[in-house]
Amino acid sequence: MRRLAHISDLHFGREDPVLIRELLADLRRLEPTLVAVSGDLTQRARRRQFLAARGFLERIPCPKIVVPGNHDIPLYDPVRRFLLPLHRWRRYIAADMDPLYMDDEMAVLGVNTARSLAFVNGRISDKQIALLRFRLCSIPDHVFKIVVTHHPFIPPPIPPYSIVGRAARALAVLEECGVDVLLAGHYHVGYSDDVRSHHEAIRSHILVSQASTLSTRVRREPAAYNVYTIDPPDLTLTVRAWNGKRFVTARKTHYKEIKKTWSEVDS
Ligand SMILES: [Fe+2]
Ligand SMILES: [Fe+2]
Repeated sequence: MRRLAHISDLHFGREDPVLIRELLADLRRLEPTLVAVSGDLTQRARRRQFLAARGFLERIPCPKIVVPGNHDIPLYDPVRRFLLPLHRWRRYIAADMDPLYMDDEMAVLGVNTARSLAFVNGRISDKQIALLRFRLCSIPDHVFKIVVTHHPFIPPPIPPYSIVGRAARALAVLEECGVDVLLAGHYHVGYSDDVRSHHEAIRSHILVSQASTLSTRVRREPAAYNVYTIDPPDLTLTVRAWNGKRFVTARKTHYKEIKKTWSEVDS
């Protein structure tokens, strides 16, 4: 059994210090195997915002993998944006922007989708798709495989929203390698669905699960993060939402893998 906490869109510079303190307390109680952080750590990629984000990450008491979001690239400084887009990220957060966590039950691969040109939507490069295949296809099937990006593979329920660039090409490889779950953030809205709801060429069921924001930039729903309890063929998604004082369980969804499809089941 593995427990994965998925947090996203912290936007340091627009954070609530009380929420951040309680989030760390909630993570300490939860004792996840891994925390996956799916980008937009900062509001405007400023040095002090990265320092605050780094201070937060250092206080997470378990392994973590972190990928950048579009807000982690400077928006208003053209020199930094186009010539040194993720320089501060590398300096303050991590040198590896496509990190891999792996143990004998779970593999979690981060993919950097933040780009200077495709600023809002993000993109996966052909080189990254080749790297996905190289890293994931060699991992045995009994290992639960998760990919973490900032930009999502399926849009939120309320359009018009776009998805990550080259999604279809990347998904063909993810399907080939037997990836089980895709995690992302970006829209500050939590939602989950079968990848086939948006990609008809894909035959396998890959569960797509989006985390909301943990900043004050909320849209339509409170700040929240997701927890996955992975015990194949069972998977439980718990949404931990901020009520202004603490994090509480807002929703719990149980899935069971039946005939290669993750079906919602009653608990
Ligand atoms: Fe964001
Ligand atoms: Fe974003």
